[in-house]
Amino acid sequence: MYNWDDPINEALNKPEVAKAAPIAETDTILNSEIVQEGATGIEDLEIGAGRIEVDDKAIINCRADLNQLVPFKYDWAWQKYLDGSANHWMPEEVPMHDDIKLWQDPKGLTEDERKIVEVNLGFFSTADSLVANNLVLAVYKHITNPECRQYLLRQAFEEAIHTHAYTYCVQSLGLDESKIFNMYREVPAVATKAEWALPFTQSLGDPFFKTGTLENNQRLLRDLIAFYVVFEGIFFYVGFTQILSMGRRNKLTGVAQQFQYILRDESMHMNFGIDVINQIKLENPELWTEKFQAEMIELIKTGVELETRYAYDTMPKPILGMNAVLCEEYIKFIANRRFVQVGLPEQYPGAKNPFEWMSEIMDLKKEKNFFETRVTEYKVGGQLKF
Ligand SMILES: [Fe+2]
Ligand SMILES: [Fe+2]
Repeated sequence: MYNWDDPINEALNKPEVAKAAPIAETDTILNSEIVQEGATGIEDLEIGAGRIEVDDKAIINCRADLNQLVPFKYDWAWQKYLDGSANHWMPEEVPMHDDIKLWQDPKGLTEDERKIVEVNLGFFSTADSLVANNLVLAVYKHITNPECRQYLLRQAFEEAIHTHAYTYCVQSLGLDESKIFNMYREVPAVATKAEWALPFTQSLGDPFFKTGTLENNQRLLRDLIAFYVVFEGIFFYVGFTQILSMGRRNKLTGVAQQFQYILRDESMHMNFGIDVINQIKLENPELWTEKFQAEMIELIKTGVELETRYAYDTMPKPILGMNAVLCEEYIKFIANRRFVQVGLPEQYPGAKNPFEWMSEIMDLKKEKNFFETRVTEYKVGGQLKF
């Protein structure tokens, strides 16, 4: 099994192409109108100003009042907010009794299976906090559209629920909290991915960073691709597959169900991010240069290398009906889809999906009661009594 103390692989840890660039010293000003800062939503009121028209809205660099949700321009963003809200769930609703019994039984799980659970809780518990911080402190202020912000707020809450869910699993199983939550600083397989992603959020979180120039608009687009396409769209998939494969074998079905709910949320986060990326491209076609596309292909390919590394590090030998070679194929298959979704050519011709069952699990609307615990389609019920 993977030795937690191995040094981090420097070459993979610091990919040349993928590094977040510092703020350009001399930014190209596109034109005098759009270089002005986009609205934030907390400016002074302009009493008697003209009413907002749909055409005043823009996904970035919008200067119209951001406190007016309607009229909608991006119905897809509002719809995702509604869909996310309709899928609301809380970690305590998932029964964990069988998991606790199994974990406490010395013969319940193999040593390798226990390590797979620990390393994934280690990765995800901090990764979801990182995503939430990226949304709130870095991405949110640069997306100048109220319906997209409405979804970002929903997403931020869902990330909080995910961190809650991982913590709930750690506490239910009685794992060493300090060990799990420090893995992203101590265990190379976990640290490498988090460390790769951080510069992209630091870049947007820089208080002096503003969109409105070609370089900075590209930087925003690049950082969105790093987080939505690579971090949420590739880095989560080996871990999800490992834990859900455990659930399919009737082991730790509570933990697996938590991950199943999270996977459903994550696939919507990623699809929202891809819609945002494509909308920015549509409204700002000058950003999508040949050179920029080549950089984005390299950036996503670096993500594939890191996730492949994670598969080999966490699975040096076959386990749970999977192995690292199959995972590598799966990552390439997923990456091909991501490339196409953002309008780039597939980079791994012929990559097949060795885990068809993952696609079924992701579509929870059709797939009820997968782990035979309860109907997994969740609607908020209950009424307040006065
Ligand atoms: Fe999440
Ligand atoms: Fe997410």
